[in-house]
Amino acid sequence: VFDFRSDNVVEAHPAVMAAMLAANTGTQTSYGDDDYSRRMADGLRAVFATDCAAFPIATGTAANALALALLAGPGQRIVAQDSAHVVDGEEGAPEFYSGATLRTVATEGGKFRMDALAEAIAEVPGGAVTLTQATELGTLYTPAEIRAIADLAHAKGMLVHVDGSRFANAVVALDAHPADLTWRAGVDALSFGATKNGAAMAEAVIFFPQHLGDDFPRRRKRGGHTVSKMRFVSAQLEAYLAGDLWLANARHANAMAARLGAGLAAIPGVSLAAPVQANEVFVRAAPALLNGLEARGFQFFSRQEGMFRLVCAWNTSDAAVDAIIAAIRELAAERAAAE
Ligand SMILES: Cc1ncc(COP(=O)(O)O)c(C=O)c1O
Repeated sequence: VFDFRSDNVVEAHPAVMAAMLAANTGTQTSYGDDDYSRRMADGLRAVFATDCAAFPIATGTAANALALALLAGPGQRIVAQDSAHVVDGEEGAPEFYSGATLRTVATEGGKFRMDALAEAIAEVPGGAVTLTQATELGTLYTPAEIRAIADLAHAKGMLVHVDGSRFANAVVALDAHPADLTWRAGVDALSFGATKNGAAMAEAVIFFPQHLGDDFPRRRKRGGHTVSKMRFVSAQLEAYLAGDLWLANARHANAMAARLGAGLAAIPGVSLAAPVQANEVFVRAAPALLNGLEARGFQFFSRQEGMFRLVCAWNTSDAAVDAIIAAIRELAAERAAAE
C-alpha cells in the first residue's frame, strides 16, 4: 500500500531518531537553555548567514501562530493567502495568540495576486503579511516575488512572515541561498519546517532582525509550547542540519514529485492543476478514477471534486511513484475504453 497523503505521514529520518537517543544522556538545563539548543541556533545562523534569533518549537501551527504574534497584535491585521494553512488549518491559532484579525487575499497558482494584496493592505492598521513557501499548491515564490511583497508590506509599516513548513523543498528547487529567500528579500520572520522533511516533531522560529524575537521565550511559555526537555526538540534540528540532511531529504522528495508529475502529465484524461515545483503534485482527474485508485489501496487526499493531492516525502520510493503512475494510466485507459 502506497501512501501519498502527506509528507508528515512517513517515518522520521533515522539520523534524527538516533540524535534524540544520543541526547538521552546526562543532565541539561531545561526550557531551551541547553547545549543542543545553543548548537541548533548557531547552526541556523550559519545556514542563513546572519545573526538571527532561532527558537525550537514542536509544531508548525505553534511556529506560525507565535511568530505572527510577535509581528502583529490587537487592532492589527494578519494578511494571508486565501488558501493558507494559517487561515483554515490552524483553528484560529494565529488570531488566538496574536489578537490580530486575519484577512485573506485572493491567490493565483497558490501565490498572492499582487493587485489584490496591494488593495487589501491599503487600509489596514499595521500588522503582518504572511506567505507560504512552498505554497499550498506546491508552487514557489522567487526571491524577486518575495521582495515585491516585502516592499509593499514594509511601505505600509507591516512586517513579513514566511510559513516555511516546506522551506527546504523551496530552497533546493529554486537552488537559492536560504538568505535570498528570507532576510535578503525583506522577510522578518520564518517558520522553518523540519517535521515534514525528516524530523519527528521539530520546527524553528527565526527572527531576522533578532530583536523582533526578544519576547518570544515569554510568549512561547505563555502559549504552553516551551517543552521542558527542549534538548530533544533541538537535537532533532541539529541532526536535520548536520551534513545538509535537510537539503538531501528535500532534493529526494522534489525529485520524486517531478518524476510523478511528468508521468501523470503524459496520461490522457489526467492533468496537473499546478506546475510541479516542489514535492507536491496536484492532479485533476474524473472522480471515478479517484475512487478506482482508492479501491486499489493508494492513499491520498482529495481537495475538491476532481482534484487530488499527491505528496512525496524524503523516503518516497521510485517503486511507489511508478506504481501510482501505472495505476492511474490503467484506470484512465479503462475509462476511455468505457466511454
Ligand atoms: C503549509 C503548512 N503550514 C503549517 C502547517 C502546520 O504544521 P503542524 O501540523 O505541525 O501544526 C502545515 C501542516 O500541515 C502546513 O502544511
